[in-house]
Amino acid sequence: MKITYHGHSVVQIDTKGTTIWIDPFLTGNPLATVAADDVKANVIILTHGHGDHVGDTVSIAKRNDSLVIASAELSDWLSWQGVRTHAMSIGGASWLDFGRVKLTQAFHSSGYVDPDTQTIVYTGMPTGILLTIEDRTIYHAGDTGIFSDMKLIGELDRIDLAFLPIGDRHTMGPHDAALAAEWLQAKQVVPVHYNTFPMFKQDPYDFVELLQPGVGIVMHAGDLLDL
Ligand code: NI
Ligand code: MN
Repeated sequence: MKITYHGHSVVQIDTKGTTIWIDPFLTGNPLATVAADDVKANVIILTHGHGDHVGDTVSIAKRNDSLVIASAELSDWLSWQGVRTHAMSIGGASWLDFGRVKLTQAFHSSGYVDPDTQTIVYTGMPTGILLTIEDRTIYHAGDTGIFSDMKLIGELDRIDLAFLPIGDRHTMGPHDAALAAEWLQAKQVVPVHYNTFPMFKQDPYDFVELLQPGVGIVMHAGDLLDL
């Protein structure tokens, strides 16, 4: 399968005719090299309801008739906007045509903020995502602080590739993310959720130095990886 990174937490996975997008925040993402209008997506998976993760989900999903997978409340809220959804909760897995999706815990918050009306829509628990596709397991941590049950996540599934936030302030910073990588026993780790905005400024190469040799991979927006 082919994995493409689009900056922030945006990951695209192409597997046997199915295109999956995780957290498609493209409009307003200064690192993104593709426009939301050009995205093809059969499936969209969301980690939580913050704007920098829901991003362009509704417009992309409506144009492509994508299936949107998200936690229960986030998925209800999106279904009311005319999107086809598949609701899940933490700890549960679903077997779909392309593979297995399981939602894991994440320590963060989750609400959609509408500054125009000064309202916040509750969108359930924030999550991480485990995807098993073509006998490979990908872990996308979503936005989270470090938690010791990452050891359990690494025990339950052999993780081939992990996307871990390193931006600090709203998620793990580089040192916590490096310990998380160790606990997850991830074979390869790609740092995400950094350098999109000034408050998330990090040097991804410094982060890679904190990992075991050969584990860290720096991907720039538009970069592609074969897995
Ligand atoms: Ni967030
Ligand atoms: Mn975020």
